[in-house]
Amino acid sequence: MPVRTQVGIIGAGPAGLLLAHLLHRAGIDSVVLEDRSRPHIEGRIRAGLLEQGSVDTLVEAGLGARLLREGLAHDGLELRFEGQSHRIDLLGLTGRRITIYGQQEAVKDMVAARLETGRPLHFEVEEVALHDIATDHPRLTWTKDGTAHELHCDVIAGCDGFHGPSREAMPPEVLRVYERVYPFAWLGILAEAPPISHELIYARHADGFALATMRSKILSRLYLQCAPEEDLALWPDARIWEALQTRLGVVNTGKIIRKGVTGMRSFVAEPMRHGRLFLTGDAAHIVPPTGAKGMNLAVADVRVLAAALAAFFRTGDTALMDRYSEICLKRVWKVQRFSWWMTSMLHRYSGDDPFEHRVQVAELDTLVHSEAARTALAEQYVGLPYDI
Ligand code: FAD
Ligand code: DHB
Repeated sequence: MPVRTQVGIIGAGPAGLLLAHLLHRAGIDSVVLEDRSRPHIEGRIRAGLLEQGSVDTLVEAGLGARLLREGLAHDGLELRFEGQSHRIDLLGLTGRRITIYGQQEAVKDMVAARLETGRPLHFEVEEVALHDIATDHPRLTWTKDGTAHELHCDVIAGCDGFHGPSREAMPPEVLRVYERVYPFAWLGILAEAPPISHELIYARHADGFALATMRSKILSRLYLQCAPEEDLALWPDARIWEALQTRLGVVNTGKIIRKGVTGMRSFVAEPMRHGRLFLTGDAAHIVPPTGAKGMNLAVADVRVLAAALAAFFRTGDTALMDRYSEICLKRVWKVQRFSWWMTSMLHRYSGDDPFEHRVQVAELDTLVHSEAARTALAEQYVGLPYDI
């Protein structure tokens, strides 16, 4: 028996779960389909940095209780290069701050909120497929435990990340793709060690980039630039700590409880809408992690989509829906530029290029000596306003 809903949502990442929640608050029905298990999505370690606007969005949506209690608010960050550290006073320069709160914690909060509404969230579904997206009656089909299911929708939200089926369902002739793959990756660890500083440290070093962040007062999250297809077997714990010590100048060692390698790319697919299919978050765009923007961009897309769908279901007005892609892409490209710039300034590219080294140091030195330059960085880092 086919079932009906207003919005079929593919993916229970931050984008899909937040959208489901905002729609619920607007009295709009949705069904969320996720191909992984609940423990998997709740344990997946990814982003950790929330812009002030993302925090405000979660709090306004009633999803902020634990975030406000456990999140670590930061008023600044440190840039380290040529053996020296320099602080950027985010709060002083912009009046805004950022918050460290693990993405999987935000996901846990949103899963709990969704289950409390009693509206459907199906885990471990298989073979999700989109149909009739160019019509007013799109459909989703999938299987679960060997049984076929069909869902009739008014709208489909593709919140299924970079590898999901939604973007692939758009006709290739309407889709324009912009992409840059970087010649390096990040080796990330989670360690039972107190953070070396109460703020984040972004380090440029001749051996490559390093970042010191955290998940709590006793859990450090540390990243090292490495080769794109880096073999973790070549990185025993001692080598990781030694590289971090060299690049950051100081480390607090402890038991490493997670290790992983993340590739780096910039990617945008335009437009973000075709017919009744809307793409959000990583399904439409990827940024290299240096600017900490991926999850924040997903939140920004979802804010626009939730408002557009609320107008549509309330009055039938499609004006905001029709501008969804244009509105989101304006922010997406500014954030792409910022993430690419942070990446270019702080990483070692292939080979030894003394010109590249001197230009990077000059760029960083400009930040140290120019309040205007620091303000430009800080404005982007804490997050652009939503009405850009
Ligand atoms: P996802 O989180 O990828 O969610 C998509 C969901 O769809 C997943 O649950 C997936 O299982 C599901 N799905 C996929 N295919 C299917 C299918 N066929 N059927 C059903 N479901 C499907 N961002 C920041 O803002 N700040 C940071 O500090 C930061 N650091 C990062 C560090 C690392 C190491 C990594 C990897 C990423 C980081 N990011 C950061 C990026 C951030 O994690 C992503 O941008 C964010 O997860 C995007 O959310 P999303 O909901 O769009 O996509
Ligand atoms: C984190 C990740 C980032 O990519 C970043 O720029 C800042 C913080 C994190 O995982 O905490």
